Amino acid sequence: MSNIFEFEGIVGMGYSQPDLLLDRSKIKIPSKLKRNNLPRLPLLSEPEVVRHYTWLSTRNFGIDTGFYPLGSCTMKHNPRVNEVIAAMPGITELHPLQKESHQQGLFAIMFEMQEMLGICAGMDSVSLQPVAGAQGEFTAIRCIQEYHKSIGEAHRNKVIVPDSAHGTNPASAAMCGYDIIEIPSAEDGLLDLDALKAVVGDDTAAMMITNPNTLGIFEHEISKAAEIVHSAGGQMYYDGANFNAILGKTTPGLMGFDAVHYNLHKTFSQPHGGGGPGSGPIGVKEHLAKFLPSPIITRRSREESDDLGVNGEWWYLLEEPVESIGKVQQWMGNSGAVVRSWAFYRRYGFQLEKMSEHAVLNANYLRYKIMNPSDEMLAKIPIMPADGSKSKFCKHEFTLSATPLKEDSGITAMDLAKGLLDKGYMAPTVYFPLVVPECLMIEPTETESKKTLDTFASRFHEVLTEDYDTLHKAPVTTHVGRVDEVKAARNLILRFDFED
Ligand SMILES: Cc1ncc(COP(=O)(O)O)c(C=O)c1O
Repeated sequence: MSNIFEFEGIVGMGYSQPDLLLDRSKIKIPSKLKRNNLPRLPLLSEPEVVRHYTWLSTRNFGIDTGFYPLGSCTMKHNPRVNEVIAAMPGITELHPLQKESHQQGLFAIMFEMQEMLGICAGMDSVSLQPVAGAQGEFTAIRCIQEYHKSIGEAHRNKVIVPDSAHGTNPASAAMCGYDIIEIPSAEDGLLDLDALKAVVGDDTAAMMITNPNTLGIFEHEISKAAEIVHSAGGQMYYDGANFNAILGKTTPGLMGFDAVHYNLHKTFSQPHGGGGPGSGPIGVKEHLAKFLPSPIITRRSREESDDLGVNGEWWYLLEEPVESIGKVQQWMGNSGAVVRSWAFYRRYGFQLEKMSEHAVLNANYLRYKIMNPSDEMLAKIPIMPADGSKSKFCKHEFTLSATPLKEDSGITAMDLAKGLLDKGYMAPTVYFPLVVPECLMIEPTETESKKTLDTFASRFHEVLTEDYDTLHKAPVTTHVGRVDEVKAARNLILRFDFED
């Protein structure tokens, strides 16, 4: 049994509802809107539905089940108080079409988030509309495109990305119609300024990059890169996926960026599954602000808005930027996600710098522990995966390469990842960034204890001592064994196949 249609529940009506108070004969639904056949819903009682979903949840691995060192995708703890606040009836029972006066509380929360995010990134204006980092990228690149059009530079048709970029960067720019120019990283994994100078020109629309980069190393020459791109008339786009490493220390604004996205579901603690449902707001410098998607939340003081009958100090309003690119989501975006992150910021806002320090400390500690096994363990480990970066320190994440192991015994990064599943861990990210062959990318996050990191490092060493056959068959302790990933990706089965 794999889904609710195969669950053998009771036969017949699985729910009970009070009688309709209306006279059914008076409800006029046009016949073209009526369905011809009843929907094929499973007929289960409430306890059976609860049992089914509880059963499903026990077959899953989540951050609440164990350590989840997924590099770049940042799975961090979501403090439960965030859920309590996001679930308050004043939030969940609001309808977006209710009067402005009913929505003042939610508007105030969203306004505060716009302000806070703007300060954290050194940006002048923020839109909370996009619901994922990738959608934020698309939205901000569209703003850059409109900006160039508005100053008579619509011919700029190239977006530069480093070869270590996340796949969503070139994909988002391509969706806006740009040609992508990929530049190679330097030997040390950092941006190669000469490679950048060689491609930048009067057709450059933007450069997209994250800092720290996807190897977890800080690009210390980022302001020079910004100067090169700006002097050619291009814009700098900051992929905020790695914000967890720099909060309170520096800002993309200081580094010379014009636009940024934030992955609230990574940095500001909330669940992040399957590309969402999250929130990927964007922040921009003044010159791009008028192109932001609508609505933006603004506020007026009581004196300014006497006519509105304001009771509190401020009156919050939805406004459309003058040359807005339009909407990229319904209503105000994923407002529940924004509220969760607001709760996190309200509780930990003054400790964001410490949060980044701990994230970086944990990553460096774990990197050291993995790369320096005890003498006893060292004797047993055939070949350690090489560190994927030439830097002495990393930021909030780091990469390892299983290439030496693969050459020696055929064991791949995928085998190590699957072996870790059998030790009770979520596998690290594998095969990303592409610049590190046989890559394993590890991000412990700030909330993990030294004990968790120590135990993970020794389990990682144990996996390294496993033989080819064992690792190649792994995982054997999980509900689902090794899947054929190519088939799973090419032959998507997205709906239940009823026999009749
Ligand atoms: C570096 C980087 N950029 C962009 C994204 C896209 O973010 P999202 O998954 O929210 O669309 C990710 C996602 O993991 C990422 O790691």
